[in-house]
Amino acid sequence: MTADAATDRLTLEEQASLTSGSTTWNTTPVRDVVLALTLSDGPHGIRRQKDVPGDPLGIQGSRPATCFPPAVTLGSSWDPALAVRVGAAIAREASALGIDVVLGPGVNIKRSPLCGRNFEYFSEDPHISGVMGAAIVEGIQSLGVGACVKHFAVNNQETDRMRVSADVDEQTLREIYLPAFEHIVREAKPYAVMCSYNRVNGVHASQHRRLLTEVLREEWGFDGLVMSDWGAVNDRVAALAAGLDLEMPPTGTDDQIVTAVREGRLDPTVVSTAAGRLLTLRDRVDRAARFEDWDVDAHHELAREAARSSAVLLKNDGGLLPLDPTARQHVVVIGEFARTLRFQGGGSSHVEPTRTDSPLDALREAVGPDTEVAFAPGFTLDGERDPALVSEAVALAARADVALVFLGLPEAAETEGLDRTHIGLPAAQLDLLREVAGTCARVAVVLANGGVVSVSEWEEHAQAVLEGWLPGQAGGAALADLLLGRHSPSGRLTETIPHRLEDVPSHLYFPGADGHVVHGEGRYVGYRHYDTLDRPVAYPFGHGLTYTTFAYSDLTAEQTGDNRWTVEVTLTNTGNRYAHEVAQLYVAHDEARPTRPRHELRGFAKIGLEPGASARARFELTGRDLAQWSTGRNRRRISPGAFTVEVGASSRDIRLRTVLTTPGDGRGHDLTAMSTLGEWLDHPVGGPAVRQALEQASVPIELAQTNPELLVLARGVPLLKLCGLVPELTPETVERLAAHLAEEGAQHARPS
Ligand code: BGC
Repeated sequence: MTADAATDRLTLEEQASLTSGSTTWNTTPVRDVVLALTLSDGPHGIRRQKDVPGDPLGIQGSRPATCFPPAVTLGSSWDPALAVRVGAAIAREASALGIDVVLGPGVNIKRSPLCGRNFEYFSEDPHISGVMGAAIVEGIQSLGVGACVKHFAVNNQETDRMRVSADVDEQTLREIYLPAFEHIVREAKPYAVMCSYNRVNGVHASQHRRLLTEVLREEWGFDGLVMSDWGAVNDRVAALAAGLDLEMPPTGTDDQIVTAVREGRLDPTVVSTAAGRLLTLRDRVDRAARFEDWDVDAHHELAREAARSSAVLLKNDGGLLPLDPTARQHVVVIGEFARTLRFQGGGSSHVEPTRTDSPLDALREAVGPDTEVAFAPGFTLDGERDPALVSEAVALAARADVALVFLGLPEAAETEGLDRTHIGLPAAQLDLLREVAGTCARVAVVLANGGVVSVSEWEEHAQAVLEGWLPGQAGGAALADLLLGRHSPSGRLTETIPHRLEDVPSHLYFPGADGHVVHGEGRYVGYRHYDTLDRPVAYPFGHGLTYTTFAYSDLTAEQTGDNRWTVEVTLTNTGNRYAHEVAQLYVAHDEARPTRPRHELRGFAKIGLEPGASARARFELTGRDLAQWSTGRNRRRISPGAFTVEVGASSRDIRLRTVLTTPGDGRGHDLTAMSTLGEWLDHPVGGPAVRQALEQASVPIELAQTNPELLVLARGVPLLKLCGLVPELTPETVERLAAHLAEEGAQHARPS
């Protein structure tokens, strides 16, 4: 049955019942006409709550499913094809567990390293967030299971998340906080979007008509269903009217909808439209193939590949890594995380894994029974200092050629509902590291954390640092693969590692007070801040080493259409191991005094190469990649002029550059009578018109020739205000010209 037909067959009460769930995880069934849908977290594995009577919150846990690496990790792979495969595997498990819609991916921007849910998000950068998020959606929906992109929008902190107003200017919204959602909606067509808990500029996201209807549907063409985050609705009627189709979980308030319609406060078509969207979703997922089970081993192996592709080798002095299993090296393993790996974050995304690997077991298995791999925990997970454990670890390290030290954040330090207050590792772990480094000359640190941790105060004690993030259930084996050189690291940072928390651009504003968090740093989030102001960082956005080296050559850029270019570069593996390079393309604007971020990621390509081999990486650039949001014109604008294409291995390791020019979008300013003379003169159509009017008034032109400062001054004066000075320019002429141009502009308006 089509959505329209079903809506016609449902009473108002039945339609209203479809706009909220029937249980925590189910939508409402209606007679034999509409079956309930089952929803489940998400994002990096299925959390199918056990059906335990009297346990609606799922305290009794969930059914086993593969815990894939969360977004912080998978994002660091810079590998959308891998994300598609992970998404498809999640969908297969969803299907086998009876789930119709997976609540993920989460694509909020990492505005501050303190956000307790950063492990669930991809990046500080909207481009890679959008590309990776779209890949997950594509993978999930390839099996007909629905994906639900969340949390829309500007949900960048956990503190006061149900009430806080994220106060953000339109340009920042359009350039930083919305583009990942926009890209996913346009490219991957998710079946659902979840609104966030917070308010955006004072209005609850759940009843934000401009975001939920005007931007999401009317501008971006979203044709799916918008559901609330769990408990995000504050006013059922206002939310429905704003474009929120489904309240989850139910609050027993459907009668408010019915009453509002009966009293004429709510248009009945709002209700039937929302109910229709639920039916459309039902139709869409009904087309999915149904699976009974999945290959548990194969999915574990995929989780291992994903973790392995995502760990970031931050430093590797003297080529300490990889360890050579055939060399007569005495390697010891220190740190409780080697035995009890922290592989996922806490909160709604918590998955009950099908099994887990520990790095210690995986290392021992890999080197075989004849090689001893001694272990000392060194610290406990509760963070207490324990001198006995430290002494034991130091004694072990004193006998070793290499100490592998596993450090990280305990689960309690980062979880949904809580932001961190600092970015340091626990003091007991740092004490241990110092002591171990004092007795063993070669130390490699392996990190387990979801949010970025500072490294500057301790990294002098380690020759190598491998950031493993939260690697999912197969993380132990994945890390062993990298440490032993069975595979080369290929992850790259999607978030800058600052020297100090105080260096972070949002630091003065985060997490706000009095119910508001001002996004005072504007567009200058992450590397957009550090690179524009040339501030030192510990490790830049995009950074990551591997066990070989790569050369970049032959950068070419070919114009393929109006504001369209194809950029290519040759990558060559100049070392002696197979590995992947992640070539990154930034569009740069070199300005003496910055008026916009100095450069922004607009493309990337991950390519695996044998030693000595070369390949061309290819990027497509469009006008949108050059545009910035103009608040005055309420649209994107491409200014004419030169811009630089930079290609490199991180935002601070640009290898090649080329300068291109764009004619702009040909639209200039949307001129009004109050636009300045300069804006009029620079306008492709307005310029000649005004020049013609001014030519008739010879006095000012002559004056300008003999007195150029006058022209400079006049350029800044609104045209209307010049009327008194130039008799040929009357207010009527100016208004007429402006109206004429507005009409022309509308006709020539091109999407940008
Ligand atoms: C989270 C969502 C999650 C939902 C259902 C909320 O607390 O913010 O991400 O999907 O719970 O568990």
